[in-house]
Amino acid sequence: MVVVVFHRILPGSRFSQITRLLSTKAASISGSKVEVLGREYTGDHMTNVTSHLLSHIGRDLHLQPYHPLRHVAQRVTQHMYCQYVSPRGNPLFSVHSQLHPVVTTHQNFDSLLIPKDHISRKKSDNFYINETHLLRAHTSAHQSELIKMGFDNFLVIGDVYRRDSIDASHYPVFHQLEGVRLCTLKELYGTHQNMDAYHLFENGERTEHHQGVHTAEAARRMEVELKGCLLGLATSLFGRDTEVRWVDAYFPFTHPSWELEVQINGEWVELLGCGIMEQEILANAGVQDKIGWAFGLGLERWAMKLYGIPDIRLFWSTDSGFLSQFRFDDSATPASYKPVSKYNPCINDISFWLPKDQKYESADFYDLVRSVGGSLVEQVSLVDSFTSPKKQLTSHCYRIVYRHMERVLTQEEVNEVHRRIEQKAASTLQVSIR
Ligand code: DAH
Repeated sequence: MVVVVFHRILPGSRFSQITRLLSTKAASISGSKVEVLGREYTGDHMTNVTSHLLSHIGRDLHLQPYHPLRHVAQRVTQHMYCQYVSPRGNPLFSVHSQLHPVVTTHQNFDSLLIPKDHISRKKSDNFYINETHLLRAHTSAHQSELIKMGFDNFLVIGDVYRRDSIDASHYPVFHQLEGVRLCTLKELYGTHQNMDAYHLFENGERTEHHQGVHTAEAARRMEVELKGCLLGLATSLFGRDTEVRWVDAYFPFTHPSWELEVQINGEWVELLGCGIMEQEILANAGVQDKIGWAFGLGLERWAMKLYGIPDIRLFWSTDSGFLSQFRFDDSATPASYKPVSKYNPCINDISFWLPKDQKYESADFYDLVRSVGGSLVEQVSLVDSFTSPKKQLTSHCYRIVYRHMERVLTQEEVNEVHRRIEQKAASTLQVSIR
């Protein structure tokens, strides 16, 4: 098979330097030394992270512009921003999306009341840095520290790590979004005349509906608010007509606990876990007068269902055939994944000086490329821009990715289309090709 890939990179382009800077390793292991995002740890008998796994750290898919995981995170965040607004009109929830992925076993397990002998602590299920530290297995690991810091309403978004088989729906690194909301009596009940009649806490019996310390009424109000918020979220993303159901669940850190399931293509899919936070967690974090709810969801699962992405490994793709399908500014834009051509892309750059006295917009060039190249053009992007003080002109370099869905493109074919793009740009946009 003939593979046609040719580049015309600008001599001394600043772009090449940026690529080099980005390729410094974010995490590595050598001997007993493990380094992750600027922090150093000493390995021991529990260490089981590998170089390959560590190479995923720093990719931060949830922060990458136009990445489908970021679109989903953005939509959930928007929903929470709209649902919970302070009296002054600003969002109540703060967003924490760059917390360090290495946490202590205390954060990941103990602070969430996960028993010492719980199976979820097993070395075979987690990536340990050493006896006391591991790559977080869930975003819940940050609940306690954020509450201690004084946050009452927050979202945590981040990469999480679990030793798992690899197949179309499992990958050892994925992304979660966690939500926590703490309420005072006043926030939960509003202001009534006779506030003395209402209480968050009592010294009662734990039942299937509430913890012993919570009044049945307070727990019920929290449940109604939590379920309303999450149902609103699911229907705003998956559509009003989606079938949904609540299933009773168990988590060591919430009681009662539920899972939300939606029906997609006739199949019930679990979308999230949630519940009323164990009061002990709040007490240990120094909070006495509030009751809390929490939820956690997997961004990959949501994105796969929302966009019809068939394989979890695709999220790690750097192929523009995948990424370009999600290149929209408004995260709420509907999109449905189309399988990427198995044929290789041809990458071709074009650089020109912008007209001096005439308005020029990149968007006009993008339209031009698409009108000339049609479905052969997979992606166009601006890769370099600089101004020459001597000429008093600005130069743009665009990268065009060509790919055919059904066959290999020949170099001649691509050259021909590329030449027509150059000609049309010169004649209609008044640019001068370099
Ligand atoms: N941490 C759970 C997991 O990874 C998800 C979860 C369930 C988070 C319930 C929560 C919650 O905050 O309340 O499976």
